Amino acid sequence: MRRSLDYIVKPFNLDELLLTVKKAVTVRKLSLEVAALKEEQEFFNQVDALIGRSAPMQNVYKMIGRVADSDVTVLLQGESGTGKEVVARAIHRYSKRRNEPFIKINCATIPENLIESELFGYEKGAFTGAGSRKPGKFELAHRGTIFLDEIGELSLNTQAKLLRVLQEKEFERVGGTESIQVDVRIIAATNKDLERCVAEGTFREDLYFRLNVVKIWLPPLRERIEDVPLLAKAFLYKYSRELNKHITGFSPAALEIMKQYDWPGNVRELRNVCEQAVVLARGPVIMPEDLPFCLQATNREIRNSIRRGMTLKEIVAEVERQVILKTLQEHNWNRSATAQALGLNRRSLYAKMKEYGLL
Ligand SMILES: Nc1ncnc2c1ncn2[C@@H]1O[C@H](COP(=O)(O)OP(=O)(O)OP(=O)(O)O)[C@@H](O)[C@H]1O
Ligand SMILES: [Mg+2]
Repeated sequence: MRRSLDYIVKPFNLDELLLTVKKAVTVRKLSLEVAALKEEQEFFNQVDALIGRSAPMQNVYKMIGRVADSDVTVLLQGESGTGKEVVARAIHRYSKRRNEPFIKINCATIPENLIESELFGYEKGAFTGAGSRKPGKFELAHRGTIFLDEIGELSLNTQAKLLRVLQEKEFERVGGTESIQVDVRIIAATNKDLERCVAEGTFREDLYFRLNVVKIWLPPLRERIEDVPLLAKAFLYKYSRELNKHITGFSPAALEIMKQYDWPGNVRELRNVCEQAVVLARGPVIMPEDLPFCLQATNREIRNSIRRGMTLKEIVAEVERQVILKTLQEHNWNRSATAQALGLNRRSLYAKMKEYGLL
């Protein structure tokens, strides 16, 4: 039932009616805004929510929807920090295995001599220090999902063992003879170009085909820059709550800087930048000076020059050359006007134009 906001006594005058309607509209608008805000915050509060409405992300959502319910093996490929782990967890969460374990193993961080026992477990006495039987990740993931992260880092030897599990769905613990059958759904992730690794001989082709039943490619953030404001807002909300600060948003200039940046570290970098900005912010709004230096040097060329190893002197000279050239063009190559605009005298402008080959 809808509650009435106000009532009008007949006969009414027009001003009063207008005022009442206006009031009702304002209240309705406000309540809608509050509802939208609440919904947004609830969304941001969700664990591992995937954020982003850009077309490339819509594609990712569609793929997740298509594969989640089956047991198909999924290969997630994308640069570092693009959200491969978030997607792996989302696939598990939307699958019929959602109430079973999700077991992650990072192939890059486990030493070669331990990876086999990590994956398949070991029997008591299998090696010195194996005081009792220990189940491996595959056993722990039974009925659930195993997430093989950084799969491109596996040695050829371990790749062969993994291939056998994928083919036969069974394995033995290290030092054991009993065959163990498991029912696991496999999701693998890598930031490497596995096809190239196959061509170069560092990744087994047969394992690649086994893993690459469905590939989901995660777009780098610079290719979906329109998602930056929403992601930034979500991280701002998260960190201002965690750090107990009352920050309401970004200034338009700060947001613009973030949209100009090319985010080599993708969403992870954006998250870190937001956390840092929340720590540094003195007011309720994030200002450009609260953002790290690498972002503030918005000029792509400057950042690229730093990456290319140019010296400060060379970079400054290049910037100076470009500023002079641009100002000359803007003033139809009129030297007096250009010198005035740049706060130089004509003689110094002439000297610089000569130095930079602009005469
Ligand atoms: N679409 C997204 N929405 C919300 N948060 C995201 C999204 N993508 C990534 N993140 C966040 O960015 C961080 C990095 O994501 P994740 O660990 O999934 O990246 P990754 O692709 O596995 O990177 P790496 O290859 O370096 O392991 C995490 O904190 C994650 O929560
Ligand atoms: Mg990861």
